[in-house]
Amino acid sequence: MDDRPVGVMDSGVGGLTVASVLRRKYSAESIVYIGDSARNPYGERPAEEIARFAGEMKEFLLEKHVKAIVVACNTITFNTPPSFYEGPVPVVGMSADFSALPKARKVAIFATPASIAAHSHRRGVARALPEAEIREVPCDGLANAIEMGAPDETVAAILRRCIEAYHTEGAEAAVLGCTHYPLKRQLFEALMPGTYFLDPAEATVDEAMKRLAAEDALSARREEDAFYFTAGAEEASRLVSEVFGEKRPVLPASL
Ligand code: DGL
Repeated sequence: MDDRPVGVMDSGVGGLTVASVLRRKYSAESIVYIGDSARNPYGERPAEEIARFAGEMKEFLLEKHVKAIVVACNTITFNTPPSFYEGPVPVVGMSADFSALPKARKVAIFATPASIAAHSHRRGVARALPEAEIREVPCDGLANAIEMGAPDETVAAILRRCIEAYHTEGAEAAVLGCTHYPLKRQLFEALMPGTYFLDPAEATVDEAMKRLAAEDALSARREEDAFYFTAGAEEASRLVSEVFGEKRPVLPASL
């Protein structure tokens, strides 16, 4: 048993969609969350910069004595070198195991430009559905609009533009390849009715917990969670309450 918290990192509020799965499925685990809202979006930055910022968040979480780190950000996961996953505690990135996808002739992948450039989601989909036609959709500006709390009409307009530009019509399945996107899942569903949307959050959290279980390091008793943001802690506080269904401590942080 290990009652230390699980660290969760993202470029902003998107990782809350992963943290909420952790809370729902593994309710004895405590969470220390860091969101780098001040430097969002990561998905429109070069890989070296993404890796440097992610390293700073890793240090931050290690200083909070976490027992594992869940990288709740696809952009970080697919733009960091293998050394990022080494360290004193397990570091688990977003899952690219898409075996849960239903049979589909056409699959769309929605992700940030930096994630799409890495093509890890494409490889994951091709492994799961070798025959499928794959449409990669780099959604410029989408994660940041969600991060900034833009109105649904603005977010929907960006998404509609991406859908049209990359011809996703007729896709029976799609991957939500950025952790910000499930916060606006209803807009995806409205613009692509009938499409099955896969959120890799659950597979990611399950993988992290499997690693801890193998080390007999699951928690027996939940302590207080803490959510840190490098900017906009006040606005994030509303979202944290919404996602977790109760008020949690939300604090400013600097990296
Ligand atoms: N939430 C992040 C992801 O899963 C990226 C958002 C950003 O561009 O910073 O890729």
